[in-house]
Amino acid sequence: MVLSAKERLIIALDVDTVGEAEILVSRLQDRVGVFKVGMQLFNSEGPEVVRRIQSLGGKVFLDLKLHDIPNTVGQAAAVLTRLGVFMYNVHTAGGSEMMKKAVESSVREVGDRGAPMPFVIGVTVLTSINQAILEKEIGISGGIEEQVVKWALLAKGSGLSGVVASPREIRALREACGPDFIIVTPGVRPAWAAVNDQKRVMTPKEAVEAGASYLVVGRPITGAADPVEAAKRIVEEMEEGLKC
Ligand code: C5P
Repeated sequence: MVLSAKERLIIALDVDTVGEAEILVSRLQDRVGVFKVGMQLFNSEGPEVVRRIQSLGGKVFLDLKLHDIPNTVGQAAAVLTRLGVFMYNVHTAGGSEMMKKAVESSVREVGDRGAPMPFVIGVTVLTSINQAILEKEIGISGGIEEQVVKWALLAKGSGLSGVVASPREIRALREACGPDFIIVTPGVRPAWAAVNDQKRVMTPKEAVEAGASYLVVGRPITGAADPVEAAKRIVEEMEEGLKC
């Protein structure tokens, strides 16, 4: 499926209230593809915020990073699917049985209720984890990239549609997992925006060129003096990357 630059842009709605989210969605709806609701907004406002975004015409990536025993994740996956989200995620560290359960539950829900099939995406090694933390605290030896690819292959084998990964791992993942595997990439910063607390950043053009399917961008757009103009500029940069 060939996606346009606009369809590939996911805006992180890292705000506390439905009101703030609605302002951003109504301003940006024509400029971007998807709105990401994470644990901040979801825990504050609950499923109603998803319905409000959808009623404004927005697609929702529900970034709740499910991680529990297979049965519990399966039940939660059914509920999220019923909400009609475009995409949701689970931790690959939960193992293949847990991931398969999420996919099975979504498929069942789609069959039973005619809800659209969401993309189920795996979270691999969080970008806040460095080599020392991975080894000494989490107890996984080997390189970060190696582990990300290993978990991505496990996710693919368990029926997931793709993974979230930092810009640094896009190329290795694209090579290992093939052209149709979805790679969702945060840590994107245009040259004109502040880096904030992101460490391993890439520009929108570079990330798309490297093979990212979707880019997650928050503060460079939501914190800009003119979010609509910022989104437009980022989409233009992504279009440049898609030409290469
Ligand atoms: O504002 P900024 O562009 O840094 O927002 C990036 C979004 O992507 C945030 O919602 C953040 O939680 C999310 N994210 C991330 N790194 C990950 C996974 C998610 O930055 N590894």
